[in-house]
Amino acid sequence: MADTLTVTDNRTGKTYELAINDGTVKAIDLRDIKVDEEDFGLMVYDPAFKNTAACRSSITLIDGDKGILRYRGYPIEQLAEQSTFLEVAYLLLWGELPSKSELDSWVNEVTHHTYVHQYVLRGMEGFKWDAHAMGKVVSMLGTLSTFYGDSKKVRDPKVRREHIVKIIAKMPTIAAWCYRHMLGRPYIYPDNELSYAGNFMNMLFRMAEPRYKPDPIIERALDVLFILHADHEQNCSASAARAVGSAETDPYCSLAAASAALYGPLHGGANEAVLRMLREIGSVSEIPAFIEGVKKRERRLMGFGHRVYKNYDPRARIIKGLAHQVFEVTGKNPLLDIALELEKIALDDDFFVSRKLYPNVDFYSGLIYQSIGFPVEFFPVLFAIPRAAGWLAQWKEMLEDPEQKIARPRQIYTGYDERPYVPVDER
Ligand code: SDX
Repeated sequence: MADTLTVTDNRTGKTYELAINDGTVKAIDLRDIKVDEEDFGLMVYDPAFKNTAACRSSITLIDGDKGILRYRGYPIEQLAEQSTFLEVAYLLLWGELPSKSELDSWVNEVTHHTYVHQYVLRGMEGFKWDAHAMGKVVSMLGTLSTFYGDSKKVRDPKVRREHIVKIIAKMPTIAAWCYRHMLGRPYIYPDNELSYAGNFMNMLFRMAEPRYKPDPIIERALDVLFILHADHEQNCSASAARAVGSAETDPYCSLAAASAALYGPLHGGANEAVLRMLREIGSVSEIPAFIEGVKKRERRLMGFGHRVYKNYDPRARIIKGLAHQVFEVTGKNPLLDIALELEKIALDDDFFVSRKLYPNVDFYSGLIYQSIGFPVEFFPVLFAIPRAAGWLAQWKEMLEDPEQKIARPRQIYTGYDERPYVPVDER
């Protein structure tokens, strides 16, 4: 049997052979299907791109039915167990696990780009004290683009690499400064003796002590959370990075767009929404009433469901285990019992089971972040920091893909036909 699709257009009786490659037919091939020469030809209509492959990618594979997640072929469970975030960032960006010397020089390069121009702080001081941290991160990325005008040379691999390093290195600094601004505390500068996660903790939490010593369990937990959040193929924010980047926008502004997408409560903002939901439920006894509200479509069970995973999100499973390790240090988060009972009830309830709604990456992560001491507004920022590596890998792959051009979808026009203008005094 040939790898083709034979379609008959019953409007004309004509038959067409469409090539099938990689489980897809090319949408552009449908344009040959016309009723007459005037006809534009067929398009596919796919709101929210539920069934559209927008690119070829070798970065991340998700198998939603089996609950599988792999970065460049490596299972997420093994990377979370044995790797580090910077090693995973290297893997996502350059395609292979680095040798020892490659890793050492990569870590050294990132470590020595963590400082941010002091003038960026002038922008930070313009925010209200209670400005949402994600709004600040979006702005800070746009601000950084004004310091690195040469980053517009996105077709130059050397320039891309230079700014990939800068962004990965500076995300924790910007994020930490956003946190310090929220609390009205002085900004802490990078300590190059510390690990990526350890230095992040230093810039967040150091007070009067001469040198910050990160708690190793919290440091490792943050690094594993960074690994788990690093990429997730064509999610909403990665698609935003690709779409904006396809106009040859610089990487800083492309990632500002991606951060804005991640900010949404249906996406990366869900970890914040989960905590607010658990607080609102308040006790295990209130769960049945809340579940009823969800079934009546009055509420969403935040942290549950996924466009791709129709099984347990493998990241949620790892985070659930990580939570217990963190609680050994921080003390158990009292909301954990509500989360565990909520999961138990939901996984037994046909409303959720029939819709294949399982806990996703955001369901347990917020409990860890809260126990470490982060305010809920900061949770999406903790998602954005590691996801910058995935966004940059997707952005780089898009620019290197000869099949890609500026993203510009079509539409089904539902508006008026031509009509004459009516002067205001005749309306
Ligand atoms: C992330 O894409 C990625 O990979 C994202 C991400 C990444 O790493 O980048 O994994 C990160 O964004 C995780 C998702 C975080 N969001 C949430 O936890 C918010 C709550 N979840 C949902 O809003 C929802 O599940 C989505 C947005 C995640 C997915 O939505 P879809 O695929 O568009 O599914 P849908 O809205 O069409 O829902 C299908 C059905 C509907 O039922 P019906 O109305 O048809 O009867 O399931 C219901 C929905 O009402 N449903 C939910 C639900 N999620 C879906 N009902 C209650 N609670 C929910 N959470």
